[in-house]
Amino acid sequence: MRIAFLPGDGIGTEVIRAAVKVLDSAGAGFGFSYTSEWFDLGAERYLRTGETMPDREFEHLRDGFDCILLGAFGDPRVPSNIHAKDILLGLRQRLDLYVNLRPVRLVDPRLCPLRDAEVGMIDMAIVRENTESVYVGIGGRFKPGTADEVAQNVMLSTRKGCDRLLRYAFDLARERRGRLVLCDKANAIEAAHGLWRVALRDLARQYPDVTATALYADVAAMRMVTHPREFDVVVGDNMIGDILSDLAAALVGGLGLAPSASTHPGRVSLYEPVHGSAPDIAGKGVANPLAAILSLAMLLRDQGHARAAAEIDAACAAAVVERACTPDLGGGLSTDEVASWVAARIRPGAPQSQR
Ligand code: NAI
Ligand code: MG
Repeated sequence: MRIAFLPGDGIGTEVIRAAVKVLDSAGAGFGFSYTSEWFDLGAERYLRTGETMPDREFEHLRDGFDCILLGAFGDPRVPSNIHAKDILLGLRQRLDLYVNLRPVRLVDPRLCPLRDAEVGMIDMAIVRENTESVYVGIGGRFKPGTADEVAQNVMLSTRKGCDRLLRYAFDLARERRGRLVLCDKANAIEAAHGLWRVALRDLARQYPDVTATALYADVAAMRMVTHPREFDVVVGDNMIGDILSDLAAALVGGLGLAPSASTHPGRVSLYEPVHGSAPDIAGKGVANPLAAILSLAMLLRDQGHARAAAEIDAACAAAVVERACTPDLGGGLSTDEVASWVAARIRPGAPQSQR
């Protein structure tokens, strides 16, 4: 296993260091090894050299590694955020990482803003399309700054893009509870989102064992709050997936517990916490490392280390429940202390923990 570490800016470096501590503990416990390289990419480098993502480094990442563990990019000293765009969007687009997977699971009812919350009540996988929709940057402004200004962004859906994402989601639903819901605004966005419904209908025939439905995204937003148990695999285009995944994350504890994977089966995959570089708390040792550690667990699962991944997931859940966590989750530990706690909790000999 060849892992590239891209810690990035702000708390990105702190949470990736923490995750690597857990990785080493898991490797020792479960008997796997890895090779790695740390990449000096981010605001510091940009301010020093003007470089964001040089081609030779991109090619090295693309060809030299199985996976990337990334912290976050963003620094107040670079208001344009140009380096973050080049690095993050650059990796997603140039590697064509079309799946953005965000698992959402309630491990501690006290973190859920809903009444009568129970452990396990919320357990969904948001599958967001990661390369298309209105995020492609096609469009622009005409007569900017005048009373006649016109602004336009094109929402792009391709049949290939819908098909490959839905296929991934159907396969995932098969491994989970067999339910898939496509969330869109096909009533208002008839062309770009209508295509998703056509693709869903066609592909559903190949997956008779999966219950596939489509829901308008506004209705889905309501039902996630009123009937969260209904949701298993949730699919959306880039914009809908972006919004619904934040809603879902807020139901289980927010940014500090939200991991993600950006993948394209067969290519180097990218794992990262959903949160940003949090300049407001950077350098204080209080950043919650659990989202980064849960992202590491996703990486290990995809790399064939399912037992180690399950053990890390369970250790993170225990950290939250036992308040061995940072202040944002109601604990009193530092970033490094949480990492040490989770690392020590990994017990390969113990019976397989629940997912
Ligand atoms: P943010 O996610 O960095 O922070 C939002 C709030 O949540 C802050 O109050 C922060 O202290 C808190 N927070 C975030 N992660 C936390 C953690 N692990 N532990 C404890 N508290 C945590 O989002 P914000 O403030 O909008 O953006 C800050 C910078 O990060 C910007 O430059 C932004 O562009 C960048 N960013 C980068 C992302 C990425 O690299 N994927 C994603 C989102 C933002
Ligand atoms: Mg977002």
